Amino acid sequence: MMVHIPVLLNEVINFLRCEPDNIYVDANLGDGGHAEHILKKSLPTGILIGIDRDEDSIKFASDRLSSYRERVHIFHDNFKNIKDVVSGRAGFSKVDGILFDLGVSTRQLMTAERGFSFSQDAPLDMRMDRSRGVTAKEIVNNFDEEKLRGIIHKYGEEKWAKKIARAIVRERGKMPVDTTSRLSDIVVSAIPPAHRSQRIHPATKTFQAIRIAVNGEIEILEDAIRDAIDVLNIEGRICIISYHSLEDRIVKNLFREIEHGCICPHDIPKCICGRKGVIKILTKKPVTPSEEEVRRNPRARSAKLRAAEKIAN
Ligand SMILES: C[S@@+](CC[C@H](N)C(=O)[O-])C[C@H]1O[C@@H](n2cnc3c(N)ncnc32)[C@H](O)[C@@H]1O
Repeated sequence: MMVHIPVLLNEVINFLRCEPDNIYVDANLGDGGHAEHILKKSLPTGILIGIDRDEDSIKFASDRLSSYRERVHIFHDNFKNIKDVVSGRAGFSKVDGILFDLGVSTRQLMTAERGFSFSQDAPLDMRMDRSRGVTAKEIVNNFDEEKLRGIIHKYGEEKWAKKIARAIVRERGKMPVDTTSRLSDIVVSAIPPAHRSQRIHPATKTFQAIRIAVNGEIEILEDAIRDAIDVLNIEGRICIISYHSLEDRIVKNLFREIEHGCICPHDIPKCICGRKGVIKILTKKPVTPSEEEVRRNPRARSAKLRAAEKIAN
């Protein structure tokens, strides 16, 4: 099984600064790749709080980081509960750096029975946290055509969303769609042959869209980032790596809003809300991987990193 290669690793480490005595949160622990480097760079006393909603990732990362002993605190949780994890479960009031490395890991994608991948036949699941929530199978077989189209269009940015949703509804009428291969075949056959990408598998966008819907990935992001900034110390830094434009847009707009502070209407000559900016954006444009990194790790291809520093409470 291939270990996940951490994306934009040096860039993350540089933004977070990683000093001893500081406390860091890795809100998407995954295989613990970024976390291990944060721990190494903050020797001998830096502390790492790791969060992941996937129990398999928690097990793998706990093993990998076990030699760091009391410097590591790992929690099986959703990062939407970051405040509660940091101050309740881990018992720290504030932290000095936070990383979000959104999405799924190579391990999750490559483990056939998780049902994330169209390239291996398996039951349609796609839940990161298998202890709760609806599966991809439930969504694909129960949502009405318009809802499916909306998901595939919005979360997959798939221009053939309408045809794909129609094909899913037609095919599930004959027999429930309960495997990755069947869904993949339906998606491929719904896209006109001349428009099927040679570069990426034609089912890529639809699978991404359904995974995002299954895991409610977009709905929780904004509140989680606000809460993360709340638990940062002044001069603490937040780094967010996203892998598709919808997520990146949320991060970009939210960072701008929090940097600006004031929420008065634009036509008011003087601020009356009194709100001040709480962060300073460190990346005017998102940082993207070098060609060299993409060659080494094609999964990094779509990554965008945005970073900010907290300047006020
Ligand atoms: C891209 S991987 C992180 C890889 C990690 N940075 C590394 O170097 O190994 C994303 C991880 O975030 C987890 N994840 C996604 N959404 C989450 C959420 N809302 N709460 C907690 N973990 C989440 C996934 O289960 C997955 O393990």
